[in-house]
Amino acid sequence: MQPDKPQRATHNATSDNKTWSGRFSEPVADLVKHYSASVGFDQRLAEFDIQGSLAHARMLHACGVLSAEDLADIERGLGQISEEIAGGVFQWSVEQEDVHLNIEHRLTELVGDAGKRLHTGRSRNDQVATDIRLYLRHAIDEILRLLRSFQTNLLDLAEQHVDTLMPGFTHLQVAQPVSFAHHLMAYYEMTLRDAQRFIECRARVNLLPLGAAALAGTTFPIDREAVARELGFDGVCQNSLDAVSDRDFAIEFCADAALLMTHLSRLSEELILWMNPRFGFVRLADRFCTGSSIMPQKKNPDVPELVRGKTGRVNGNLVSLLTLMKAQPLAYNKDNQEDKEPLFDSVDTVVTSLRIYADLLNGIEVDRDAMRAAAEEGFATATDLADYLVRKGLPFREAHEAVARAVRLAADKGVELADLSVEELREFSSLIDEDAPAQLSLDGALAARSHVGGTAAQQVKRAIKAARESLSG
Ligand code: ARG
Repeated sequence: MQPDKPQRATHNATSDNKTWSGRFSEPVADLVKHYSASVGFDQRLAEFDIQGSLAHARMLHACGVLSAEDLADIERGLGQISEEIAGGVFQWSVEQEDVHLNIEHRLTELVGDAGKRLHTGRSRNDQVATDIRLYLRHAIDEILRLLRSFQTNLLDLAEQHVDTLMPGFTHLQVAQPVSFAHHLMAYYEMTLRDAQRFIECRARVNLLPLGAAALAGTTFPIDREAVARELGFDGVCQNSLDAVSDRDFAIEFCADAALLMTHLSRLSEELILWMNPRFGFVRLADRFCTGSSIMPQKKNPDVPELVRGKTGRVNGNLVSLLTLMKAQPLAYNKDNQEDKEPLFDSVDTVVTSLRIYADLLNGIEVDRDAMRAAAEEGFATATDLADYLVRKGLPFREAHEAVARAVRLAADKGVELADLSVEELREFSSLIDEDAPAQLSLDGALAARSHVGGTAAQQVKRAIKAARESLSG
């Protein structure tokens, strides 16, 4: 999926683009040529462009528009071009503007007139829309694969920590104890929705624009369904103007990518905090950390920081594409050439971030004692004591008030709730009995939250098992 480094397109000042310059009386200004060329970045679409051209040519032949000889020439020529590109010897040229014209130009060099007939009943407008959809479908499939291995590794880690206790936070203040596994499983849920979003997006991506030609369709007796079948599309775009002009499918992908990165940025932020010695909850394997060039003692969480930082770029790509599309009149406008770089950047960033994260999860070392010690500070079981009073008949608001006053006493004395004696606790409510201190145990608090979605070990184990089943299904 990772593109090879784009090759530099060469520039030849004397040759002009003959593909569309017939009605022009002077050559295009040099600066304009470079300004309007997209070959520097759209060459990444080459393999999809060739697939699309082959399907188009085969359909033209089947419909009686292209001879068997021309088709054979086109197939042979495109086959050679494909090898030239894969071998890194294809000569990309700015004169030929974009990936489509570069390939068509080379095809004509190789096979003559048959190459000039390929574009019958087609326009670069429906061609590029097709290429992007093929590319994006491929990218989504890879992202879904990577998401699955990220989730598998997340489950592996969670499985080891069903009984590892940590403070759950609200407002980044100790709130109630949770298991580390339960905390990790929250990220499973987030990335599950991310995967669902990509799957839904894929269904809207996987429709064929070809046949729309420039904007209105074509006068040739084409068979769009045949092309769709050959290219593995689920169907054809139903309106030619819409097919060539809208990029909502790419915008939707960028939104899904932004949400996924946003989720990864949250996990990253937590890892950064947890790695801080004040927390000391986790250590990351050295291969994910870097040192400082001046401070010898440093080990920095660069990878999570970069994921957090790159999320900004991916969010920006979404806004770029929304702004690109806003108020564009129908149908195709050259503005749309600007869709590619943000889209490619979002794909690359998500792919590399997921790849690195899957491995990073394997390299997380957990300090169970530090996690438990943090949960022991901050009155994490105060709610449990209030719930106890409610079970004894006190309205919750009054129970809350009674325990809040007990917390104040403990805080004043610089101790935890569990350090107060039953007599001291009884000051705040006569309903407090000898069984009250048991309510204050962290493990008890964990086990007591045993319902779907709760942090009790039994529930978390069930959630992990269900997740495993859905991943392997
Ligand atoms: N390079 C162009 C793009 O990316 C291809 C379509 C050009 N169409 C045109 N009418 N100029 O959008």
